Formats: sequence, C-alpha cells, structure tokens
Amino acid sequence: MAASIVKRVSRVKKLNVSHISARYKLLTGSRHFSTSKQWNKALVLGVYENESTDSIDFTGTARKFDEKADGKISQLLLTVKKPLKCGKTRTLHAVDPEFSSVLVTCIGKRGEGYDELETVDKGRESIRAAVAKAVLQLRELGENEIEVDSCGDTEASAEGCHLALFSYDDLKAEKSRKPAVRISCATRYSQDKNSMEKEWRKGAILAEGQNLSRRLMEMPANLLTPTKFAEIVKEQLADKCEVLVRDKDWAESMKMGSFLSVARGSVEPPVFLEIEYKGRQSDSPLALVGKGVTFDTGGISIKPSQGMDAMRGDMGGAACVVGSLLSVSKLQLPVHVKAFIPLCENMPSGSATKPGDVVTAMNGKTIQVDNTDAEGRLILADALCYSEQFNPSLILDMATLTGAIDVALGAGAAGVFTNSDDMWNKLQKASVRSGDRVWRMPLFNHYTKKITECQLADLNNIGGSRSGGACTAAAFLKEFVNNKNWLHLDIAGVMSNSGDVAYLGKGMSGRPTRTVIEFINLMSKETKN
Ligand code: BES
Ligand code: ZN
Ligand code: ZN
Repeated sequence: MAASIVKRVSRVKKLNVSHISARYKLLTGSRHFSTSKQWNKALVLGVYENESTDSIDFTGTARKFDEKADGKISQLLLTVKKPLKCGKTRTLHAVDPEFSSVLVTCIGKRGEGYDELETVDKGRESIRAAVAKAVLQLRELGENEIEVDSCGDTEASAEGCHLALFSYDDLKAEKSRKPAVRISCATRYSQDKNSMEKEWRKGAILAEGQNLSRRLMEMPANLLTPTKFAEIVKEQLADKCEVLVRDKDWAESMKMGSFLSVARGSVEPPVFLEIEYKGRQSDSPLALVGKGVTFDTGGISIKPSQGMDAMRGDMGGAACVVGSLLSVSKLQLPVHVKAFIPLCENMPSGSATKPGDVVTAMNGKTIQVDNTDAEGRLILADALCYSEQFNPSLILDMATLTGAIDVALGAGAAGVFTNSDDMWNKLQKASVRSGDRVWRMPLFNHYTKKITECQLADLNNIGGSRSGGACTAAAFLKEFVNNKNWLHLDIAGVMSNSGDVAYLGKGMSGRPTRTVIEFINLMSKETKN
C-alpha cells in the first residue's frame, strides 16, 4: 500500500507542463500517429428516420456505399422489422472488405432545421449526437481508423466526432487511457472533395478549440496554477498570437487593487495575460475577457467542502477565451482580437482579504468586499477597465460567476447580459449554428441599486440577498464598462456536463467556446473589426 502511494506521487511530481502538452498534441494531430500501428478500419454511415419497413432512407454517401456493396447494407438493415429511430445505431460486420465494421447511425428526420422554441438547429444537433455515438461505439470495439459520413452537414459531423472522442486521462496509467482513434471524412463519393475537406477541417478546428478549453478546465489546480496556465497559453498560441505575461508588480503599477485583493490570500503569484491576434489591421479590436480563478475556495467566506473540487474549473471563462483564440487563429479569421485574462487563486490565509475590507479598482471606484467568495467580479472589474483602454469595438466577457445562474438556467444555456440588441442577435445566431445555447438576462437598474447601496464604499461586492444573484453580479460588472457593445456571459451553469449534451462526455464542458468562435466569425464579416 505504502509503496503504491509512493509510486503514484512520484509519477504526478514528474508530470510537468511540456509532458502534458506533448501528449495533448499526440491525441489531436493525426500526423503524430505511429506508422507501425495496426489499423482497424471502420465506417460510419447515416440514415434518416423512416417509418417504412421495406426501404432505407440513406444519406447520399451511405447510398453510394450500399450500391457498391450490392445492396448488402440495406438488406441487412431490413432483416429486422423495427426501423431505426433517431440516435439509434446498428453495427454490421463483414459487409465490405475494406472495413471490419460498418456502423449505421440514425440522424433523425430528413429536412429538420431550426426549431424556434428550442432555439437550436435540430438537424445539426442530431448529426453531432449520432456520429458521436457511432465513433464511441466503434472505439469500444477496438476500431482505430474511422471514416465518417458527412451526413449532409460536414462541419457538424466533424464537430460531433472530435468532441465525443475527447478524454482527459493524461494523469492515468497507460492501460486506463482511451485508445487514440484516427478519424476522417468519407469523401470518396463527393462531387466536390475539396470543399468537403475544408468544411471537415473547420468543424475539427471548432471542436479542437472547445477541447482545449475542456482540458484546461479539467486539469487539477495543483498542476494548473496561474503561472502554468500562462506557460500552456504560450505553447498553444505563441506561433499565431502575441502573448504578454504580466506579473503582480505590473498589476500594482496599473492600480488593479480589486484583482490583487483576491490574489493576496494565496502563495501562488497572480498573472495577468494579454493576448493579441491580428488577422487584420484595425484600431478597434474585439476584446475578450475571461475569469481565471484557477481554484476558488471562497477565501475567508469559505465554501462547504462537498463538491469543492469542481472549483478547479473556475477558470472556465479564461479557458473558453484561450480555446476560442486557438480556433480563430487556426481558421485565420480576418479579425483583430485582444484578450485579457486575470489569473489567481482565491484562498483563505493570514494575508487574505477579510469580509468588510475596502479595496480600490483601477477606475478609482471603491468596493466593500462583504463576501470573499464573490471574487470573480472583483478580478473582472480591473480586467474590464483595462480592456477599455484599447478602444474595443465590443467587449465580451465570460465567467463562471454565480451559482445563481445555474439555479436559473441549469445547463440549458449560458446567461447573457448585454447592453446591445444587435450584439444579442448576433450571439444568438452564432449559438444556433453551434448548438451551444445562450439566453438573455436583464441589466435593470433594479439590480444596480442592490450593489450601490453600500455602507463604506462606492459599491458592495454582494447584493444583500440571494435573490437575482446572477443579475446583481452582472450589475456590478456594468459599473466598470463604458463600451456600448458589452456582453457578459455567466457560464457557471454550463461549466460541466453530466450527460445533458449527448456528444460531450461527462466532465468539464468547455461551453460555450464554439458559440464564441462562431460569433467572432460573424463579427469578422463586419468591416470595422
Ligand atoms: N465560482 C463561483 C460560482 C460558481 C458556482 C461557479 C458554481 C461554478 C459553479 C463564484 O465565485 C461564487 O462563489 N459565487 C457566489 C457569489 C455569492 C457569494 C454572492 C455564489 O454564486 O454563491
Ligand atoms: Zn467564489
Ligand atoms: Zn469563483
């Protein structure tokens, strides 16, 4: 027993950042696969839901495969009476000499699209879920090279399988890790292979961004300190972006008293990241801001210990900013983005901020910190002020900010607070494409009053009562923003997936990275950014 503990500890100790990212590259880039490996090839084909018991409604690609196999696939499917329903699969073997398994997956009714009440494109979501299920089943069977039907929406198909195959098992023994799988798009019967490959690549890059967010969120806080977070960002983005790593002295010189009041309880030094992607020349970048609390104990207003491990994901906003930048830069979008990420731990200690302490933010506003667990808004206050200095055309912040947004919306959607109808419409449009939903929340003066009624300072960091907690948090942030196009995304409710999203495994979700990438893509089409 003692020996095995010693062994484990030494393995964790040895694991440094470069070790982790080397394995990360191994799992995501096909060029890293060993050539001597034994490949077991499999094929995923899509069918539409169809009541008929004597015909199969194949996708275009699937029909061609069936014809090539002399109708064997349709014959085998029709040997059982019950037609395939959306989300169900059938696995066939020995139907094609090239593939050891052919898995047929049902992608729902033909022609399904935007559902207004659900605010989602049902067709695309069904494809993501159907191919995700298919590739996971094939991986279980030991298949490791899988060709996937584009199912009429190549990008959605690529997203579904790349998101489903993600797993964070870097810290596990080799035998417990999920095997690597090579996936590609079944383009052989396509009229325009090039555009299909291009769309596949776009879907894969969107998923890759979200998978980087998931990886960062899942990493334990002893390994992912603010300093390590900055190192990983440099490794992942430095060839495409400029990455500036600011230290505590810099934050002091900028008078970021609100940010530093959170960091002071920890022995881990705070870091402020400033990242720039210049896909076009402009004087008004899009500004992204992400909450980067690498662990939130609550500070002196300490949290209950049950479930506290999830607070390693309290840098989810920061992770989604980095994941979005990875995809935006890989897609070479013609847009200018600047990102601002305050990183620190929220710990209780002899040097920690105490309830009732008053701190001063970068814009000179004083804040009475009545609850040290409402720390996200304190670090964002300074980051938002700083971002304003770069004349941004819009500011979008993301933060795992309040438990209250989870009470309000659960994992159904990220809560969005914005002063711009135009921005809201664009973000919602982006979320319909990504399937990762958003829902608008109010920025009424009603909530501002709750945080401006303060005994000692200009603002109180809590609203006084638990009611409308996500709205008072947003009202607090509003005090640090002048920009006419500001969006605040409270992502605490969508931080982790417990089975709600079929194509994401259980664990940290990386939501809403793909929505933000799609949003930036939409904005890149507007001239001024
Ligand atoms: N990091 C938490 C919010 C959170 C909760 C994120 C659940 C993910 C899942 C945040 O810093 C926090 O503790 N907020 C407090 C605010 C309260 C003290 C006003 C909360 O929501 O309870
Ligand atoms: Zn907190
Ligand atoms: Zn927090």
